[in-house]
This record gives sequence, C-alpha cells and structure tokens, in this order.
Amino acid sequence: MKIISVVGARPNFMKIAPFIRAIEDYNNNSNNISSPPNPSLSPARPPSSPLHLSIPPSLHHILVHTGQHYDDKMSRSFFQALDIPKADINLGVGSGTHAQQVGQTMMEFEKVLQQERPDWVVVVGDVNATLACSVTAKKEWVKCCHIEAGLRSGDMTMPEEINRLVTDRLSDLLLTPDELSSENLRKEGVSEERIRFVGNIMIDTLEAQRGKAEALDINEIILNNSLDHQQITDNRQLITDGYAVITMHRPSNVDDPVILGALIDFLCDEVCRDMPLIWPIHPRTENNLKNFGLWEQVVQTDNMILLYPVGYHEMLRLNMGARIMLTDSGGLQEECCVLGTPCLTLRWNTERPVTLKEHGGASVLVGNAIENIRQAYHQTLKEERRPVRPKLWDGQTAKRCLVAILEYEKS
Ligand code: UD1
Repeated sequence: MKIISVVGARPNFMKIAPFIRAIEDYNNNSNNISSPPNPSLSPARPPSSPLHLSIPPSLHHILVHTGQHYDDKMSRSFFQALDIPKADINLGVGSGTHAQQVGQTMMEFEKVLQQERPDWVVVVGDVNATLACSVTAKKEWVKCCHIEAGLRSGDMTMPEEINRLVTDRLSDLLLTPDELSSENLRKEGVSEERIRFVGNIMIDTLEAQRGKAEALDINEIILNNSLDHQQITDNRQLITDGYAVITMHRPSNVDDPVILGALIDFLCDEVCRDMPLIWPIHPRTENNLKNFGLWEQVVQTDNMILLYPVGYHEMLRLNMGARIMLTDSGGLQEECCVLGTPCLTLRWNTERPVTLKEHGGASVLVGNAIENIRQAYHQTLKEERRPVRPKLWDGQTAKRCLVAILEYEKS
C-alpha cells in the first residue's frame, strides 16, 4: 500500500513526525500493529484488546513538502529537531497570495499523484497545503485521510476555517482530536464510518520531546536566537524570575496597523513593565511592524526580548517556564493546556474549545480589544500553572491514525 503524506507549513511538521514514526514501526515490526486504546472502536472489538493487522505486508511512504514555508527557521530546523526524513518531493511553492499558493500546489501535486498513483493521501491541520492536496487527491480519485479533522471556529474570515471545511467535506477518513470535533462532523451530516476519534497527534510529539526540551537553558535560548540588532551580550540581564511569552501571526492581529499598534502599546507599556517579554517573531509580523513604523518602538523597549522564530524544543522550553503565554497560535493553545501554562488567546473565537478554561483547559479568549486583554492579563497572573490532559491526548495518537487507515482498507 502506498501512502503520500503532505506537509507545507510550520504547524504541520510536529503533526507528521509521529505519523511517519508509526509507519516505520509498522514496517519494522513484521507488519503488525498493536492498537492503543480507542473508545471510538466498535463494541465488537473491545478498546483495550490488541488489534493485529497483518495486511498489507508493508507500507510504501512518500513525504511531500509543498514548500509554503521555506526559511530554515520555519522549516528545515523542524525536520532536523524532530528527526523527520528529508521530504521525498518538494513542490517549491513558496510565498504568495492564497490563490497562488493553493493553485500552484494543486498543479504540482497533480503531477505527483499521476506519477505515483498512491492508495492514500494523508493531510494534517488546516493550512493551504491541506486544502490544496485534499482537493487534488479527490479529483485524482485517491482516498484522502485528514488528521485533525472536525475543528470549527465558525469564523469564515479565517483562511484556515475554509481549508478545514473543504478538506473535511471531501476526505474519506476524518480523524478527530477530541469528541467535540467528532460531534461537529456529525452535525454536518458526516456518516459515522468516516469519523474516528483518535486524539491529538501533536501531543505525541510533545510527549516524545519533553525531556529534551526540559534540559535546555532559557538564557541560552535567548542568547542563541536573539535578533542581530538586539544588544544581548554575556553581561546581559539574565532571566532569573518570571517572564511572559508572546507569539502573533494571524492576519486579524498583524495586518491592520491600528490593531497591531494598540497591541504593541499594551505589550511595551504594560507587560514589559511587569516582567521580561520573550517574543519569537514570525516573518509576517516582523515585515508588518516595519511597514507600519512600529519596529523602533518594539526594539527600544526595555524588557522586550525579540527572537527569531525558534525551534520546536526551544519553544516548548519557553512555554514550560512562562508565567503567562499570549498567543494567536492554535498549537500553542493546545500545548499550554497540557503544560498548564496560563494562556491568553488573542482571538475572538477558537476551533479548539477543549483548551479553554470552561472546558477544563488553560486558556481564555481575549480577542484583540486592549481592555479585555488587560483585565484577563491581571486576573491570569494571579493563577497557578494547572496542567490538563484532554481524553486521548496521551502520546499514542499516531498509531491510532495508522490503525484507522488500515481498518478502513479492510472494511
Ligand atoms: C501559515 C498558515 C497558518 C499557520 C502559520 C504558521 C495558511 C492559510 N496559513 O500562515 O494557518 O498558523 O502558517 O506559521 O496556510 N514567510 C517567510 N518565510 C517562510 C514563510 C513565510 O518569510 O518560510 C513570510 C512571507 O513574507 C509570507 C508570510 O511570511 O508572505 C506569510 O507566510 P504564509 O505561509 O503565507 O502564511 P503564514 O502567516 O505563515
């Protein structure tokens, strides 16, 4: 059986790494795979009983990188850190408008499918690669599996929401990270055979890499990743106490100069007055700060520690030690939930409600209105770190994904 899996942008890499490992394990272990517990299996097969699948004899896996993210710090460093084999095929799509990225990816991926004729295309997450490759797969009559299916923010201004809706509408097999996502799919009329609740595959990576991240030193991370122009030397002020971390890259926060300007004032005038603020900065945000004339204010603020986009382990380590996280990233909301880092989600909605406090998680939706953020910020600083583990976020999801594909083949 031949499987092509697809990655395109930074958040895809930590989701595909464990899936590739599950395929390697399958091929190395006499083609048997023991299914970890999965409550979504039919009652005829009790969740705890091992499932031995002896066909197909081996899996031929091809990794395709669309090339949406291409900077070393946004792509290659993750392949190295997470031991992902070099992509077999790189479509070289690069930056552009959404239509350019999706169109170019479809044109290039179509050639790959016509040449390779895989049995399955596996897509992860909700980036432009996810959309482009699921559509192309179905137009080429190739079965498609979506890992991280069923997430819904209800916000049609988000490109990711459009990507999720289309990918889930088309995919044959929808592997969900939580039961709310499975429920979203049922409400949309998806038949039960197409839905499998498997857990959160990104947490497989977190659990596998946690020890390595813990061993890193925060001040070394700062020193090694500091933006060139920031005067950080060996006699720099070391972080010895609490610090905050921020990441921002969503168009809704960084593409409008008024919104971004207000956020910057809050961060520079209020957060940096309370504690050091570590900011690994996304290229899109850096470009916009420069274009909007906000860059000088940011670099000249005491206690503002600007970093290049940092590697996987570095980000995990920063998260583990943070007093508070401010972010518009979906993945960080999930990691904060498992690590217990109090998190202000700089969005008005989320496709990941299990990470919110009202569902037992660690994060609060604060949007980008400063008064909201200020109130939640002061409240959150009084709170303790409180790790929570939603159901099946247990580090075993990749195996369940592979079992689901193999079972689908047999059915
Ligand atoms: C994309 C994803 C988003 C994800 C994010 C993580 C879509 C629709 N969006 O958004 O869901 O959360 O990745 O980063 O797929 N750039 C570089 N180097 C790179 C990549 C990008 O400099 O390697 C710059 C370019 O100026 C580019 C801009 O960043 O135009 C935005 O990149 P793009 O891939 O279009 O979207 P992201 O904002 O990264």
